[in-house]
Amino acid sequence: MTPYVVGLGGSLRGGSTTDNVLRLALKVAASAGARTLHLGGLELNLPMYSPDIVERTPAARRLLDELRKADGIIIGSPSYHGSISGYVKNALDYVEDLHNEPAPYFDGRAVGCISIASGWHGAVSTLDALRSVVHALRGWPTPLGVPIVAPSPLFDASGNCVVAKVQEQIEIMARQVVDFASRAGTHRTLPAAARSVRIGTATQGASHPPGVNRQDGSTTSTVHGPTEEPVLVR
Ligand SMILES: Cc1cc2nc3c(=O)[nH]c(=O)nc-3n(C[C@H](O)[C@H](O)[C@H](O)COP(=O)(O)O)c2cc1C
Repeated sequence: MTPYVVGLGGSLRGGSTTDNVLRLALKVAASAGARTLHLGGLELNLPMYSPDIVERTPAARRLLDELRKADGIIIGSPSYHGSISGYVKNALDYVEDLHNEPAPYFDGRAVGCISIASGWHGAVSTLDALRSVVHALRGWPTPLGVPIVAPSPLFDASGNCVVAKVQEQIEIMARQVVDFASRAGTHRTLPAAARSVRIGTATQGASHPPGVNRQDGSTTSTVHGPTEEPVLVR
C-alpha cells in the first residue's frame, strides 16, 4: 500500500517559513514512498469554525475530504504568542466535523508536528500545544516533534534547507510518519469496534475532563480526546 500523507499548516505571510518547512517534510515523505498533498496558504484560509453551520465552504470540504483519506498527517504552525496560530488552530477545529467517521478525528494516524518561532520558548511551547491537540484528536504524535527557531532564512534561493540540523530532524520525523502510516494501514481498515483501544472502565454518558474522581475515591484520568464515552484509567 502507498501511504497518503497530508501536510497542513503554514501562515498567510508571503514566503512563510512554516509553509517551506512543510514542503520539505512532504518531499521527504514522498521520497520515503508516500503520496502527499500540501494544504497551506490560502487553501486553509477558512471562515471561523462554527459547529452550528452545516454547509461547509469548498475549501473546508476539501480539507475534511483529504484528512478523511489520509494515512498520515504533518502539521506545521508558527508560534503566535507562545502557541498555535489562529489560522492553523481554526483549520484543526474543523476536524471536529470528522467525529462520526469510522476513524474519528485523527484516529489511527501518525501525526508529525512542526513549530516555527523566533525564539526557543515560543518554539517549544507551540510544539507542546500542537502535540496536545493531536493527542486530543486521537492522533499518534510521532516520537520526534520538530521545534525550529528561524531568526535567519532556512532555505536558499533554490529551496534547499541550509540548516543541517533542521534538515536532519525533518527527515527523521517525516520518515516516522510514513513508517507508521505503512504499518497502520491495515489496522485502519478494521471495523471501529475492533480498532478501539480500551483501557480500564468506560463510563457512559459522562463528560470528558481529565482527573475525574470516581465514587470509590480512586483517581482517574482521560486517555483519549473528544469522546462521548471517556476511557478512564485507574
Ligand atoms: C502575531 C505574531 C506573534 C508571534 N509570537 C511569537 C512568539 O510568541 N514567540 C516567538 O518566538 N515568535 C513569535 N512570532 C514570530 C513567528 O513565530 C516567526 O516569525 C515565524 O517564523 C513565522 O512563521 P511564518 O514565516 O510561517 O509566517 C510571532 C509572529 C507574529 C506575526
